[in-house]
Amino acid sequence: MRNLSLYQLVCPTVVALIVSCGLLIEPVAAQEPAGQRQELSEQQLLDELGKIQGRVSIPDPKATTLQQPQGRDYQTFERTALPWVAGFVIVGMLLLIGIYYFAMGRIRLKTHPSGQTIVRFNAAERLLHWTTATAFIVLAITGLNLIFGRRLLMPLIGPEAFSTWSIWAKYAHHYVSWAFMAGVVLMFVAWIRHNLPDRYDAAWLRSAGGFFERTNRRHLPSGRFNTGQKLIFWSVVLGGVSLSFTGIYLLFPFAFTDINGMQWAQYVHAIVGIIMVAVILAHIYIGTLGMEGAYQAMGSGAVDLNWAKEHHSAWVEEQQRKGAIRPRGQTAAEPAE
Ligand code: HEM
Repeated sequence: MRNLSLYQLVCPTVVALIVSCGLLIEPVAAQEPAGQRQELSEQQLLDELGKIQGRVSIPDPKATTLQQPQGRDYQTFERTALPWVAGFVIVGMLLLIGIYYFAMGRIRLKTHPSGQTIVRFNAAERLLHWTTATAFIVLAITGLNLIFGRRLLMPLIGPEAFSTWSIWAKYAHHYVSWAFMAGVVLMFVAWIRHNLPDRYDAAWLRSAGGFFERTNRRHLPSGRFNTGQKLIFWSVVLGGVSLSFTGIYLLFPFAFTDINGMQWAQYVHAIVGIIMVAVILAHIYIGTLGMEGAYQAMGSGAVDLNWAKEHHSAWVEEQQRKGAIRPRGQTAAEPAE
């Protein structure tokens, strides 16, 4: 309603200014009765030029945007489409994980633990992983608050508490984002060489990582990271980079772009964020409940040798060649790198 009255107020004013400058198409105006003259000219301007241009001397260039129809599309997206898409993707992923768990169960060790361990992630890598993971979880919760908070949380805790929580959530989202951005860059540097395509990927993809083989799961050799983990790595890197760039646009409004750019940054930020939440839910499942023995890799940093041979046999062979695996009873002094 406010936009309409602004439009009604501004358009005749702009047209009147143009008329007074002698820019109007005089013959058309001259043929029409006085009452219709302005309306027709305005319509012509809109039809023929597609926009009204002018010059303003207001110091803030943003204030020169009088009408921005795309703003309505963005509002519809934010208020209607986004909560539905986000709910569908996230609840859908949780359902898929639940169905998979009840249908296929945990991926268990086919052999027995050997009792001998091998270092899979050193202390620096684990610190990096858990810092980035904690930052991501804070960003995910505070980001989802923007989509669902008013609808789901406010009715539960009341407007006062919701307002206080949302203010803190916003600060957390702004400041913790820097830790996440740094974490993504460092993860990229630390693990890129283990996440390039290799000769084991095709076979892994052909048998979908053995995820749907309930019994007699075949052995799929892989290097330090298997193809599924590489996909997680690249989702984190590419998703993290696009979240970071669009996030910086949003952290510094209008510093790098105009109103259209701001809206696009929000579209991309919201959609990539939701996809990443879904991907990370799958990752958390596999790293904890989904696969026996996986959590130790990021927990203590060391895994059982038989677990490593079952899931990353090419990597174990490489470590053996390097002499990083010591006979039973001895622990490797150096990380398995
Ligand atoms: C509570 C949440 C999380 C748990 C329990 C978890 C667990 C794990 C585990 C067990 C591994 C090692 C797998 C192996 O042995 O190779 C791992 C690796 C990794 N994690 Fe997480 N993680 C969590 C959250 C995150 C988050 C939020 C991110 C990034 C946004 C992330 C990114 C990675 C990456 C890139 C790897 C290496 C590639 C891979 O193994 O998929 N993790 N995580």
